[in-house]
Amino acid sequence: MKFNRNDNCWCGSGLKYKKCHLAFDEKIDSFRQKGFPVPRHELLKSQKDIDGIKKSGTLTSKLLDGLNDIIKPGITTDEIDTWVYEQTIVHGATPAPLNYKGFPKSCCTSLNDVVCHGIPDDTVLKDGDIINVDITCIIDGYYGDSCRMYTLGSPSKDALKLIDVAKECLNKGIDAVQAWRPVSDIGKAIQKVAHKHNYGVVEMFGGHGVGNAFHEEPFIYHYERKEKQMIMVPGMVFTIEPMINIGTPHCEILDDDWTAVTADGSLSAQWEHTLLVTENGAEILTQ
Ligand code: MF3
Ligand code: CO
Ligand code: CO
Repeated sequence: MKFNRNDNCWCGSGLKYKKCHLAFDEKIDSFRQKGFPVPRHELLKSQKDIDGIKKSGTLTSKLLDGLNDIIKPGITTDEIDTWVYEQTIVHGATPAPLNYKGFPKSCCTSLNDVVCHGIPDDTVLKDGDIINVDITCIIDGYYGDSCRMYTLGSPSKDALKLIDVAKECLNKGIDAVQAWRPVSDIGKAIQKVAHKHNYGVVEMFGGHGVGNAFHEEPFIYHYERKEKQMIMVPGMVFTIEPMINIGTPHCEILDDDWTAVTADGSLSAQWEHTLLVTENGAEILTQ
């Protein structure tokens, strides 16, 4: 799309294009000419969008905090789900997973060898388990998506190390968020950490644009790929959510069509944040 210099800017500022986003668009175009995918304007969030995503992301984070007092040996994953549902509603929000493409619950609970998309049920948590809970709140149509790991009693040293390394993978991925660099930097940074420990990086699932919908462009690979990937432009919002396995990166999907488990039965861990690209790196919107 081409705009004239004296038109009103597409961003809604009321300024003339030449005084507002013309230079910005020229910069984007220079990457397009070098063969990189670049975001459409619709992917760049307004200040109103960012404030909205931050509001729902803050609630998501609060609920994840609250789970520290809820998750104890003896509790079922259904009880976690009920708490998440009730707290989401009490705060005037909607749980995005509920009925999303047929998902039956309000959060994902992924236990031990479950990689992601575990469905809460009557499974009783016991000492030594590790579990991921993934929450996405919607407020005023804005989505905030984040997940964390929780431990029950005393998990093995191997399990605790996996959880730590997976968190470092997320943190190094966040550090790789730099405006005007391709999103492929993120997967490269994550893979480097995981492979140092001989862990598998799950390839079947990735991060994703988020904010005005649950899953938007771009797809964020958590492992290294050679092709030219989308340039990170200030105003983009996406998740980073590496799933790291002690063994093989390969997954299988159970008969419920949702639950992803490691193909070799090894433990899996995941951490996720929703991030805004700024001129000075990432701003975390889910904390
Ligand atoms: N929150 C998950 C993610 O990080 C998506 C869950 S989809 C659901 O992308 F339907 F399982 F909830
Ligand atoms: Co996500
Ligand atoms: Co999530």
